[in-house]
Amino acid sequence: MPLLSVEDLIVRYGAIEALHGVTLHVEPGQIVCLIGANGAGKSSLLRCISGLVPAAHGRILHRCLQQGEAALHRLPSHRIVARGISQVPEGRGVFPNMTVQENLDLGAYLRRDRPAIAQDLDRVFTLFPRVKERRNQTAGTLSGGEQQMLAIGRALMSRPRVLLLDEPSLGLAPLVVEQIFQVIQQVNREGVTILLVEQNANMALAVGHYAYVLETGAIALEGPTADVRGNDRVRTAYLGED
Ligand SMILES: Nc1ncnc2c1ncn2[C@@H]1O[C@H](COP(=O)(O)OP(=O)(O)OP(=O)(O)O)[C@@H](O)[C@H]1O
Ligand SMILES: [Mg+2]
Repeated sequence: MPLLSVEDLIVRYGAIEALHGVTLHVEPGQIVCLIGANGAGKSSLLRCISGLVPAAHGRILHRCLQQGEAALHRLPSHRIVARGISQVPEGRGVFPNMTVQENLDLGAYLRRDRPAIAQDLDRVFTLFPRVKERRNQTAGTLSGGEQQMLAIGRALMSRPRVLLLDEPSLGLAPLVVEQIFQVIQQVNREGVTILLVEQNANMALAVGHYAYVLETGAIALEGPTADVRGNDRVRTAYLGED
């Protein structure tokens, strides 16, 4: 059974239809990538899973042993986070005038289990030593890569079982992108299921288990990443090969 199922999802902004009936499944333990060009509807899909934009049609189901099945498209955002589904938004969304530590604390705002929160903070600091070094600085003074690490750290502070990542590599230098993708794999190995949205198809297909290609609001192709990587159309349109 998939952990997360998006079925025939339509998202509209007024007269604009951003998603035209998207179906996608995320199996537990996997890194599932969603690749697609600018404006394909990738962020709209993630925002709808997190309850930040409404579904005009279709459904989003989350299944887990502890909490059973839930229709996410009927839940408010905070209930979705409480079910263990956290998002690292495009552009990171850190609060620039708050300190690094305060940004991390916000990620745990729904929790009351102090010892476990302290444990998770240690884990974030182990994953991102740079974030630890800068814990008392305001977040706005961090580099782009450090802000991305902070944004991932903040999401981990809610102890998610599913992490939704919206273009974590955007605007970062190749070396920093490598580091971010290593952490994504590490977090996944520790048991977090990941839905990874990327324009950097090369990197996403290298770390993912299964991939979907979104073109102008519809799924054009899906399969194990090795198959998608070998697809001629993907190679010319997304990987820049001839
Ligand atoms: N708040 C909004 N109001 C109106 N139209 C929107 C809104 N947000 C997104 N859209 C439109 O919906 C479509 C999908 O946008 P979306 O941001 O989901 O794409 P994306 O694949 O994430 O693109 P990018 O790679 O640029 O982040 C686009 O045509 C966009 O202009
Ligand atoms: Mg986007």
